[in-house]
Amino acid sequence: MRLHPTGKFDNHVSNYQHIQALPLAAAMGAEIRGVDLASINDAQFAEVQHALFRHKMIYFRQQTLTHEQHEAFSLRFGPFAEDAYTSGVPGHRNVHPLIKEADDKSKMVFGEGWHTDSPFLPEPPAITALYSVEIPPFGGDTIWANSALAYASLSDTYRQMIQGLKVHFSIREVMKAAQESVELRDSPIGQLAASRQSTQLSESLIRKINGNTHPLVRTHPVTGEKALYVDGAYAIGIEGMEPEESAPLLAFLVEHIIQHAFTCRLRWEPKTLAIWDNRLCIHQAFNDYFGYRRELYRTTVAGEKPR
Ligand code: SIN
Repeated sequence: MRLHPTGKFDNHVSNYQHIQALPLAAAMGAEIRGVDLASINDAQFAEVQHALFRHKMIYFRQQTLTHEQHEAFSLRFGPFAEDAYTSGVPGHRNVHPLIKEADDKSKMVFGEGWHTDSPFLPEPPAITALYSVEIPPFGGDTIWANSALAYASLSDTYRQMIQGLKVHFSIREVMKAAQESVELRDSPIGQLAASRQSTQLSESLIRKINGNTHPLVRTHPVTGEKALYVDGAYAIGIEGMEPEESAPLLAFLVEHIIQHAFTCRLRWEPKTLAIWDNRLCIHQAFNDYFGYRRELYRTTVAGEKPR
C-alpha cells in the first residue's frame, strides 16, 4: 500500500553563508559545495551539520582525503561508534574497508538489504561517513529513504497506534544470508559468513544475535524530529507481539518508508564523501557490478540510546 504524501515534501535548501547546498531529490539528499573537508573550518562545519540533519544524507564531490583526514572530519560529529563488522584498516581501527573485488561472485553484498546501521547494538551509530576510492563504470550506487518523511506521511490514527511500540533488532537474518551466499573473503560480510566455520559463536556475535529493542518512533536528539526507526534487514519483531502479529506491521512500515517518492540515489564517483544520519533515514547498497572492483572506506559516529 502506498500513501500519497502530497504537501509533505520540503527538501529546499537553507541560505548558507559558508557552504552551498543543492537538493538531490524532492524527498531528501543534497550535494554540498564550497568546502574542502581536509581543512574545513568551524563556521563551515556548523552549516554542514545543519544540512545533514535537514537533508538526512549529504555528499561532497572531489574530496582528497587520507584515512587521518577522514577520521578527523568524522570526529567533528562526535566519538567513533562501535563498528559491528570490521576492526578497521591497519593503523586505523575506526576506518572500515568496504571492498568488493572484481572476481567476487558472492550473491550478497555488504549493506544490500534496506537498513539503518547496526540497530542491534544498545547504542547504534548515529552518523556514517562513506568515502569512495574506486567505483565501477556502472552500478554500485547507494539509495536512501527518508524515514522522518515516512513518519510524517502516516495518518494521525496510525501514528497514535504505533506510538510506544518497541522494535527488536538482531543481526540474525543478515548473518544467515551471509552464510548462505557470501564468499569467505576478508571483507566485512565475508567475516560474518566465516562464522559458519566456527563450532562456537563468539560472545560478541551472540550479543548481536540477541540484539536490542528500540522505540519504533524515534525522536532526533538535536532537532526533535520524529522518524520511523525500523528496517528490512535487522528488525525481526515487536516487543510483546507474536511473530504473526508483528510481521505484517513491520512489512507495511518498511514498504511505506522505501516507496520511490521518499528516496534519493547517489551515483558514486571516486573521491566522493557521503554522510547520513541513521536516525532519520535507511539505506541500501546494490550488488550490480560483477566483474568490477568497488572500494570505499567507512567511519561511524557514536549515537545515543534511541528515545
Ligand atoms: C553501508 O550500508 O554502509 C554501505 C553502503 C554502500 O556500500 O553503498
